[in-house]
Amino acid sequence: MEPFIIGITGASGALYAHRLLRHLKDLDAEVHLVLTEHGKQVVAYEGQKAIYELADKVYRNDDLFAPIASGSFRHRGMIIAPCTMATLGKLAHGIGDSLLARAADVCLKERRKLIVLPRETPMHAVHFRNQAILSDLGAVVLPANPSFYLKPQSIEDLVDTVLARVLDHLGLDHPVSHRWREMGVGQDGGRGTEDRGISQ
Ligand SMILES: Cc1cc2nc3c(=O)[nH]c(=O)nc-3n(C[C@H](O)[C@H](O)[C@H](O)COP(=O)(O)O)c2cc1C
Repeated sequence: MEPFIIGITGASGALYAHRLLRHLKDLDAEVHLVLTEHGKQVVAYEGQKAIYELADKVYRNDDLFAPIASGSFRHRGMIIAPCTMATLGKLAHGIGDSLLARAADVCLKERRKLIVLPRETPMHAVHFRNQAILSDLGAVVLPANPSFYLKPQSIEDLVDTVLARVLDHLGLDHPVSHRWREMGVGQDGGRGTEDRGISQ
């Protein structure tokens, strides 16, 4: 089976990458990983260094000779989680000056699946424009905006509300997070948290 590529940049939310790697590993998927320099620093700062053990292969971001830099490399999709506004800007303007940016640029030119999880708040007009450009180029812009209607009970549950959508877009069958109106979720007629014994 062909691998997935995960890119990690220096945005807050390394837990998104950690849990995505964990879920893909649980699904027996092969994962190749590349981090920007700031990505490495934020991963360390946010205490998520365990991600490295979950990847089948980790590339250096300055290794432009790596297989994922080439359109001939076959894979099942690339996910950039989390994605900074800086990397988003590069991708929107075809700047492939690092392995992560080049691999993503290759996805766009080869019309392969590219999912970006932007993380910033608030955003200015250039951030929005760059996301619109990427969307026009065929990337899936899937902001790291967790949802609350599934009543997450932990930070991991919250993060998984986003990652379930990522796994859906990758076409994977997965047990991550419930779906609206499945398994009783959302079928309480709007009575909310009371039915789960949570006091408000
Ligand atoms: C702790 C920390 C958190 C950061 N969080 C964000 C963020 O959420 N979004 C963002 O766009 N930049 C964030 N930054 C700034 C980026 O790391 C910075 O713009 C960097 O140049 C991005 O480089 P990269 O895209 O090559 O990783 C953060 C920086 C630090 C130190």
